[in-house]
Amino acid sequence: MMIVKTLHFSQTFQKHVSTSRIKTNFFTNIRPRSVLKISNSASISEGGLLVDEFNPKIPVEKASTPPSSWYTNPSFLELELDRVFHRGWQVAGYTEQIKEAGDFFTGRLGNIEYVVCRDNNGELEAFHNVCRHHASLLSFGSGKKTCFTCPYHGWTYGLDGKLLKATRITGIKDFNVNEFGLVPIRVASWGPFILLNLDPEFFSRQDSNGNIGTEWLGSAAEILSANGVNSSLSYLCRREYTIECNWKVFCDNFLDGGYHVPYVHKALTGLNLESYSYSIFEKVSILMSDSHQMERQEDTDRLGSKPLYAFIYPNFMINWQGSWMNTVLVLPLGPRKCQVISDYSFDPSLKDAKEFIENSYKGNGNLQDEDITICEAVQKGLESPAYSSGRYAPMTEEAMHQFHCLVHENLAYEK
Ligand code: FES
Ligand SMILES: [Fe+2]
Repeated sequence: MMIVKTLHFSQTFQKHVSTSRIKTNFFTNIRPRSVLKISNSASISEGGLLVDEFNPKIPVEKASTPPSSWYTNPSFLELELDRVFHRGWQVAGYTEQIKEAGDFFTGRLGNIEYVVCRDNNGELEAFHNVCRHHASLLSFGSGKKTCFTCPYHGWTYGLDGKLLKATRITGIKDFNVNEFGLVPIRVASWGPFILLNLDPEFFSRQDSNGNIGTEWLGSAAEILSANGVNSSLSYLCRREYTIECNWKVFCDNFLDGGYHVPYVHKALTGLNLESYSYSIFEKVSILMSDSHQMERQEDTDRLGSKPLYAFIYPNFMINWQGSWMNTVLVLPLGPRKCQVISDYSFDPSLKDAKEFIENSYKGNGNLQDEDITICEAVQKGLESPAYSSGRYAPMTEEAMHQFHCLVHENLAYEK
């Protein structure tokens, strides 16, 4: 069952300069690792037994795909959350969502609840969205605030995370207000994207080199930047879907090199798939057309440019059409359920080209509906006793194979 939610904005991205920014919160004496719980280790070790059922050393021509348990087992998802999603940089939102001091938005990834805001100095901040008193969530949704006041007993925190007021604590002993600020999360931006690093050990390791583009995208940062992916765009709207499939099913579908297009997306019949080629980087794969012919439609063609489809491990996809961009973020909600957040933005020069925008938005929405239907069908098949694992079409599914190898590498990694 698919649930669709559409949110409309009509705002313009700030000019996104190529400089990337990273924000560290060192306002309290606490180290995040000292207050953060370690994940459920029994469940994780159970999931770990499944990791080596896929062998990344076998080349794509001979390899079998990961076993269906990777897509259905709850313990395996626990392991993924711990080692894939709670390590490394993850896209959380857009700078457009928090343009001014006090703007904030909240989110959840696995069991991590977070709030991202812009403080009084205009700096990006991110925290665990959990009150230090008795753990209530602090903020909900998005909006603008001068401080975060807990809805439960009124403890109040500044936009920089400091505990400003602890209500009715007269008589408390051994309580240091400086030790009860919100627990910080590493936050950074690259172009229009806001990134979080949820690794509880990140602060203690201090292993950022300050260049977020390279840290996040590796050597693909240059090509994505050269194609304008981090440029100034007008933000149009967001669609959100809840889909009954494992998060990797949705990623796999994006990573088959257009294999499914003639069968799933009949409206794209005639697309010359032979003209597309993959460039595979460390954690990014980019599919580009050699010719300017994607989704050729009379009134949209003049405004498009070379399309580019980028997958950024583990869960972020960019459909870049030169004059407009659709990004897709896939978040696991359970072994058989994920949330898909699809954002649309356009070149500011197109603000009066309403017909073009509407056609692009509608056409893209139809494609996503078709992808969702097939992904839910795949999930049902993965749960059938008739299926254990499949094979790759080597000429077109190389990026998918790399994705599975990267998941394996993360999961097999022991600290
Ligand atoms: S839980 Fe936040 S003030 Fe009590
Ligand atoms: Fe598709």
